[in-house]
Order: sequence, then C-alpha cells, then structure tokens
Amino acid sequence: MDQKDIIILGIESSCDDTSAAVLRNGVLLSNVTASQAVHEAYGGVVPELASRAHQQNIVPVVQQALQQAGITKEQLSAIAFTRGPGLMGSLLVGVSFAKGMAAALGIPMIDVNHLQGHVLAHFIKENEDDNDKPQYPFLCLLVSGGNSQIILVKAYKDMEVLGQTIDDAAGEAIDKCSKVMGLGYPGGPIIDRLARKGNPKAFTFSKPQIAGYDYSFSGLKTSFLYFLRDNIQQDADFIEHHKEDLAASLEQTIVDILMKKLYKAAKDLRIRQVAVAGGVSANSGLRNAFHEHAAKYGWKIFIPKFGYTTDNAAMIAITGYYKFMDGDFCSMDKPAYSRVTLQ
Ligand code: KG4
Repeated sequence: MDQKDIIILGIESSCDDTSAAVLRNGVLLSNVTASQAVHEAYGGVVPELASRAHQQNIVPVVQQALQQAGITKEQLSAIAFTRGPGLMGSLLVGVSFAKGMAAALGIPMIDVNHLQGHVLAHFIKENEDDNDKPQYPFLCLLVSGGNSQIILVKAYKDMEVLGQTIDDAAGEAIDKCSKVMGLGYPGGPIIDRLARKGNPKAFTFSKPQIAGYDYSFSGLKTSFLYFLRDNIQQDADFIEHHKEDLAASLEQTIVDILMKKLYKAAKDLRIRQVAVAGGVSANSGLRNAFHEHAAKYGWKIFIPKFGYTTDNAAMIAITGYYKFMDGDFCSMDKPAYSRVTLQ
C-alpha cells in the first residue's frame, strides 16, 4: 500500500438500504448493502422501522465492507456519508455513525448529496482499466422512487436540473399502480417482470402535456386507476386476466413519457452523451429504449450496473473521493437534511 493512497469509506442510509463501500484512489474495493425486507408487509417504507433497521445493520455492514476491502480503519483517509435528501431518521443513523467514527479516527468527513451520488455512480471504477466514463457535459436522467429529473452535468460539482416531476416520481407512479393491481412492494421489479410477457400496445393511458422538460405522473396514475375500476365492473377478474398486458402497457407509457423529454433536451442542447441513474434505471423497458435511442440518434449511452441503480454506498464513496481531491470537507456541526435539490 502506497503512503499516498486515498482510501474513502462511504456510508449510505438515506432510505431503506444500509450500505458501506471502500474505494482506493477511485477504484472500488467493496460495496456491501443490507436491504430491509421488513417494509414489504406494509406496501411501502415505514420510516420508524427503517431507522431501527439501520441501527442494527450499520456496524456489521461497515465491518464487512472494510473486511472485504482488506483495509483497516486506521488506513482510511476520510469518511463520506449521505447527508440528504432522505428520511430524517434513516439519515441520522449514517450521519451520526460517520461523525463518531471520523472523530475517533481523527480523519476528515465529507458530506454527500444523495442525488449527486446517483449521477456520479457512472464514475465508479471497478478496476484500474475501467475508464469508459461519460465526458462532461452530459445529460443524466435520474429516475427513482422519489425523483424524476433531467440533469445537465457540467462537472462533478456543477449540475443543473433542466426539468423534474411536478408531482409523483416515475418509481412512485409504478409502485402505486402496482399496489392498485394488488401486486407486492416494491412494484417496479414486479411490473418489469410481468411486462416482459405482455403486449405494450394492449392498452393506452393518458400522457401529460406539459411544456419544457418537466414531468408529471399523477394523471397517469389516476387514469390507470379509473381504467381498472371501469373494466372490473365488466369483468371482476380483469386484472388477473390481463396483468401482463397491463404491466407492459403501463411500463411503455412511463418509458415513452421519460424518453420524450430526454430526447427533447438532448436535441435542444445538442448533447449526445446520455446517462440514466436511480432505482428505475433497472427497468428493462427503459434500458431498451436507451439502446434504441443510441442506435437511432447516435447517442453514447451510460447505463449503470444493477448494483449501482438502487441506493448504494459506492456512489457516495466516489463522490466523496472527488470532494476529497478538492479538499471539500465538512465540519461536525453539519446536520442531516431531509430535503435538498442539486442546485
Ligand atoms: O433509487 P431507489 O432505489 O430509491 C429511491 O427512491 O431513492 O429507487 C426505488 C424505485 C422504486 O420505486 C422501485 O419500484 C423502482 O425504483 N424500481 C424499478 C425497478 N427496480 C426498482 N422500477 C421499474 N423497473 C425496475 N426493474
């Protein structure tokens, strides 16, 4: 080990995943995540249960990340942690743990914006030769349970939100529609699985008509609900009889809405490097649409590995690494924040 090695421990606890990762000179050594199955029974994340589970998971997860990386805590250069946005009780566990550990080791702390982390997940290097990364400026479609944004990424710390949802996020809409279909939680992966066996053109649902690069998904959710209600009056088992087609048509509608605005932004700004990030970027239909746009419009696309789509500490560690190189540290008195944007 070189004396000058920069070794960052990243900690993520903004929602229902407790995650720790170790990065050496920008190269990922470990990324350990404990997910919380406890929320499945409630059809959504229960904040109080999430923070309790983080309390139980944080020590073993950090220990495992260090062990897998073959790094001792004394070798760490700094600790990067998600400061927000997220659930306050969840964030507090990671933030307090990071502060305590950094103080005990006498090393700097780096606060990370979770959304910035999702975008910079594209820069995680899995080995020294892993260099196929986006060039600035590029566009990033950030789609998760809480966000749907088109971001112009000019530099690692210079991101402009060109458009975002004015109501529900894409993942939230999928989860809610899946709930009204009586499917499990989270709905995204279930809808994705069903959609692969269905006809995306079987049904049509309303698409929003809003100017600019903003999104809206609440109208779609309502139109989906009314469509089911009307059809169930004719056939009590309508959902069961058509669940694959319903999932495929819903997914197609959401993908079309997302890609239309993204295409517009790419065309208007003449940018051809386009990335996708966040939990919904795991969706097969969305990934296919990216490939189709790449073939049709000459886009160079960046689609994260599945492990980096959902919340993970590797993306916090890479953001922390860039901030470390800039000497951008944070003090003990910085609190967690539940709401914040990229700008
Ligand atoms: O980024 P994320 O893990 O958490 C935050 O919201 O911060 O995103 C979770 C969202 C959920 O709405 C989930 O249903 C959705 O991502 N999701 C998917 C898929 N996998 C997860 N949506 C569509 N298709 C998937 N394969």
